[in-house]
Amino acid sequence: MSRLLIVSNRLPVTVHADQGDVSVVPSAGGLVTALRGPHERHGGLWLGWPGDLAQLTEEQRREVEERLDQLGAVPVHLTSAEVSRYYDGFSNSVLWPLFHYLVEKLHLDARQDWESYREVNERFADAIASRYRPGDRVWIHDYQLTLVPAMLRRRIPDARIGFFLHIPFPAAEVFRILPWREQVLRGMLGADVVGFHTTAYRYHFVYSAARVLGLDPDLETLAYEGRRVRLGAYPVSIDVDEFVRLARDEEVRAEARRIRESAKGRKIVLGVDRLDYTKGIPRRMLAIERFLEREPELRSKVRFIQLAVPTREKVDAYADFRRVVNELVGRINGSYGTLDDIPIHFLHRSMPMAGVVALYLAADVMMVTPLRDGMNLVCKEYVASRIDDTGALVLSEFAGAAAELIEALQVNPHDIDAVASTIQRALVMSPSEQRVRMQALRRRVVTHDAHRWSHRFLNDLERASGAAPAVGAV
Ligand code: ADP
Ligand code: G6P
Repeated sequence: MSRLLIVSNRLPVTVHADQGDVSVVPSAGGLVTALRGPHERHGGLWLGWPGDLAQLTEEQRREVEERLDQLGAVPVHLTSAEVSRYYDGFSNSVLWPLFHYLVEKLHLDARQDWESYREVNERFADAIASRYRPGDRVWIHDYQLTLVPAMLRRRIPDARIGFFLHIPFPAAEVFRILPWREQVLRGMLGADVVGFHTTAYRYHFVYSAARVLGLDPDLETLAYEGRRVRLGAYPVSIDVDEFVRLARDEEVRAEARRIRESAKGRKIVLGVDRLDYTKGIPRRMLAIERFLEREPELRSKVRFIQLAVPTREKVDAYADFRRVVNELVGRINGSYGTLDDIPIHFLHRSMPMAGVVALYLAADVMMVTPLRDGMNLVCKEYVASRIDDTGALVLSEFAGAAAELIEALQVNPHDIDAVASTIQRALVMSPSEQRVRMQALRRRVVTHDAHRWSHRFLNDLERASGAAPAVGAV
């Protein structure tokens, strides 16, 4: 029976150990959100890093491993040196900023981090090879594991291998900055199918492969080392039914009412992001400040809520960034707060999905204004949750989702004045305009959901040439 082996750096759950207490909590982020459904439906294995288990006693470790086993999760362990070099270092201080066009955040000398990245990618390839059965389909994910497809191809030449990149693939002029550009391209080209969120990212990849490796540029298929590598654009999405279910849930609706009541008649403008410097939070705060400055009569009529989930806290750029956000929020609340209220309610924590959906239901305006984002699922979650077709979405044109969600109020997040005006426009949008826009957005999100995303990718993988046919494929 053909199984689906999902491989990503992060498992759908993360183990946290704190002074003897151990908890296994759902992981945050778009990748995990999108892959939960396919993993549950296909019932195969999910290989990835479970978090740091070093502090656990033998017994705690056994319990955690049992729990992972029940979830079909296979742990690939990392030492603390590897977490620091492969994860914090090469993945999140080199590839992440470079692929999001934030060249000034690049680590200067990353040779040792690169070595660790290579070694950990080899370890993932070993872990897959040791679990692999003929006929399995292997689906490798994201920038932390770009070398794994080629490494696995060397171990199992006829394996059926897919690779999906969840972040942007940058323009060749930016990608070529990477000293290890050739290795990264060759690593990804080990797959039979390489998937991106948008046709623009696919184009950048093809052009980079032509410039760096001298391959014949073709948007659909690259001829590489005697194989044909299929390239596709598959916009990732969410499990819409799950959001509709939560949006109808009586407890979630009661929580949304409570949030609205506590805003005392003010309209609610919401942001929900990992606290990542790509998400455009400081510029969003500056736009809010500009809006408050320009619209004195609206000051007492709006409440801004920013929910920010802690992320990658050991990476310097993230710690510096947290300070910047805290200072901005403090400054704006200091200038525009009154004895009754403050304009920005900033919550730095993770929240169960039911709580996030209650916020989506309470929000009149949703702001999703990343500087760059591979796709961004928060905007799709907001749209899926607005089952009564109300609300307004302000969306950055630099999110992958902008290519699909064309009825949103699209903004350039660098243009503070324009974002401030768009906040105002969203707040006064008539109910009929809200309905027309939201219905069109909902139609698109409902038809292009996560199920369709994985189905399209896996279908292409099934048909991909250059691999042996799968046995009893689903
Ligand atoms: P990224 O993958 O870069 O984090 P996405 O927008 O694609 O960005 O996905 C973010 C995911 O994390 C969404 O499913 C969103 O609901 C979830 N999320 C974001 N902030 C929080 C939070 N504070 N608490 C819980 N979940 C959150
Ligand atoms: C983005 C990346 C994922 C990553 C997630 C959370 O969605 O594309 O690969 O898992 O952010 O980041 P973290 O570093 O906590 O896994």
